[in-house]
Amino acid sequence: MTTSADVLREEVRARYAEAALAVEADRQGRCGTGSCCEPTAETSFGEALYDAEQRQELPETAKLASLGCGNPTAVAELREGETVLDLGSGGGIDVLLSARRVGPTGTVYGLDMTEEMLALARRNQAEAGITNAHFLRGQIEDVPLPAESVDVVISNCVINLSTDKARVLTEIARVLKPGGRVGVSDVVAEDRLTAEDRAERGGWAGCIAGALSVSEYVAGLEAAGLVDAEVTFTHEVADGLHGAIVKARKPGSAARELPLVGNAAGRGCC
Ligand SMILES: C[S@@+](CC[C@H](N)C(=O)[O-])C[C@H]1O[C@@H](n2cnc3c(N)ncnc32)[C@H](O)[C@@H]1O
Repeated sequence: MTTSADVLREEVRARYAEAALAVEADRQGRCGTGSCCEPTAETSFGEALYDAEQRQELPETAKLASLGCGNPTAVAELREGETVLDLGSGGGIDVLLSARRVGPTGTVYGLDMTEEMLALARRNQAEAGITNAHFLRGQIEDVPLPAESVDVVISNCVINLSTDKARVLTEIARVLKPGGRVGVSDVVAEDRLTAEDRAERGGWAGCIAGALSVSEYVAGLEAAGLVDAEVTFTHEVADGLHGAIVKARKPGSAARELPLVGNAAGRGCC
């Protein structure tokens, strides 16, 4: 039986498959079915959220495919040798940047459900010459990695798209090692907005209707067993809805202290 969650998930998958194909068409000098001919408000996000130094590290199509609402690689304080998981990795921008940050002794996994995005991300990876990254097909509600295998979970404008956010947050807590960290960019609603208010301001696949409120986010992270949860608004994307940085930590101490690499704040929206 098809549920409303299935319908929403298919709507999300189809939208981002189209976005990936549009970027690929652009790479080949043709006009895709998405936004390559007529830039929309959405296409003015993404690449602009990364500083010049980071943009220089990336293939052109990784920049074009950036649909995020922040820069999680900048807030996650990645260290050499760490294992990083990017939920909803899209064209791979945050995976490729993270792979450089953690260096040859580290590993980065990008997880996405959309085959077209995975294909684009793998091409971008090859173009960037990155060997310590792996793109996995799957749902962020059912992460195909073992428990306690990841130091840092990042994500950029994806958790709002999930139809089962409690499960996503539980999966984050499961795969994190003790002392592991969450550094996520997402769209988050002010607590005053009801679910109906959010839906009035934008669609689900456009990263608005499915946004959690601040209280819901913090409660969800805590219910999953994470601590030190905090949500910091960076910029308003619609009335009462903001691009935000979401941080939390899994209790316990990290196995080793590694040197910090990179630090800054992100902004923008999918
Ligand atoms: C707004 S785009 C962001 C992509 C990327 N993080 C970035 O910053 O450019 C959302 C991505 O999440 C993926 N996605 C959405 N819901 C998902 C889910 N439930 N499981 C896995 N991937 C999902 C989509 O396929 C798409 O690539």
